[in-house]
Amino acid sequence: MSSIIKVEKLSKTFESKERKKGQRRKLKTVQALKDVSFEIGENEIFGLLGPNGAGKTTLIKCLTTLLLPSSGKAWVNGYSVLDEEDSVRASIGCMLMGDRGLYWKLTGRENLDYFGALYHVPKAVRRDRIDKLADLLHVKDFIDRTVETYSSGQKMLVAFAKSLINDAPILILDEPTVTLDVPTARELRTIVKELNESGKAILYTTHLMHEAEELCNRVAIMDHGEIIALGTPSELKTSLALDDTLDLEGVFPAKAVEAVRALGGVTRIAMKSTNGGRTSLSIISRSGGTILPQIIEALMHNGATIEQLRPKTATLEDVFIAKTGRTLDVDTRQIVVQRGEPGGGP
Ligand SMILES: Nc1ncnc2c1ncn2[C@@H]1O[C@H](COP(=O)(O)OP(=O)(O)OP(=O)(O)O)[C@@H](O)[C@H]1O
Ligand SMILES: [Mg+2]
Repeated sequence: MSSIIKVEKLSKTFESKERKKGQRRKLKTVQALKDVSFEIGENEIFGLLGPNGAGKTTLIKCLTTLLLPSSGKAWVNGYSVLDEEDSVRASIGCMLMGDRGLYWKLTGRENLDYFGALYHVPKAVRRDRIDKLADLLHVKDFIDRTVETYSSGQKMLVAFAKSLINDAPILILDEPTVTLDVPTARELRTIVKELNESGKAILYTTHLMHEAEELCNRVAIMDHGEIIALGTPSELKTSLALDDTLDLEGVFPAKAVEAVRALGGVTRIAMKSTNGGRTSLSIISRSGGTILPQIIEALMHNGATIEQLRPKTATLEDVFIAKTGRTLDVDTRQIVVQRGEPGGGP
């Protein structure tokens, strides 16, 4: 794999004052990144998945030269984030802080034109590119209104367009779908896939495991500033030998249940009677196997009637739970930082 982003033992520590009523101010240290190392291939969509406070945005800020790491090194497109800032910035399109990177008093088009000019995109190319992006992202209806009149989803789409204005080889997106409705989020993911197919490397952060699973070639799962698992979604799931669950409804004689229990790979069977003599059966088995046909055969050969069948395979959320004992919804932030209010521009 030829890597386009390389991160080597990157750490970031924040020091901030903690204020509590009636107490003296105390200095509090938060280690937001701890010895993070990974590489991203030039053809990849690489996902950073982790709960609130895991360190995803801090990592992205270090890679986009907005923050200086406390220790460690990183290279973007071959340039060091420590001392080749201009070349790093020229290599990336990024969407950070969602809509807070836009000037609210300007129209969407004026914003895109302004940021394009900052990236030295020639005027004629800018005009043409803004029209193409407006088409691609379906923002034509509102692109000539001031950003302050936009809905949060509309702001997000224009912020996404902004990340594409310099047509950089690397796209870095920090939770780009967070304020989008379900169909628009799906559309954005489709566009991200197309951009990747057209040659861009993509670093995509999310706390939604289904996004990471659907979109990313490889995923790094972060927790408390560390990478706790890294691999393709299927590698992560099979490496943990997580269980698959098969939920069935129907009529299941005892000998059918025993025949399933006797199959190698079945680890647990839970049975529940429902109204009308029907039973629901949950069969837990080792993932990655080909046990499903054997289960069906064992049941059918022993007089069972299957009315419904719902396989539930292991997800990345299960990987996170297996590694941490928590779900991805748990907020692990240690200090809530009040950043600038919206409206002031980037
Ligand atoms: N400027 C700062 N000063 C002090 N602590 C900070 C600062 N920025 C971030 N932190 C802390 O660093 C940790 C990581 O925060 P970060 O914003 O990187 O998390 P995240 O994974 O992006 O979370 P989210 O999903 O909520 O966006 C948190 O505990 C956060 O409170
Ligand atoms: Mg974040």
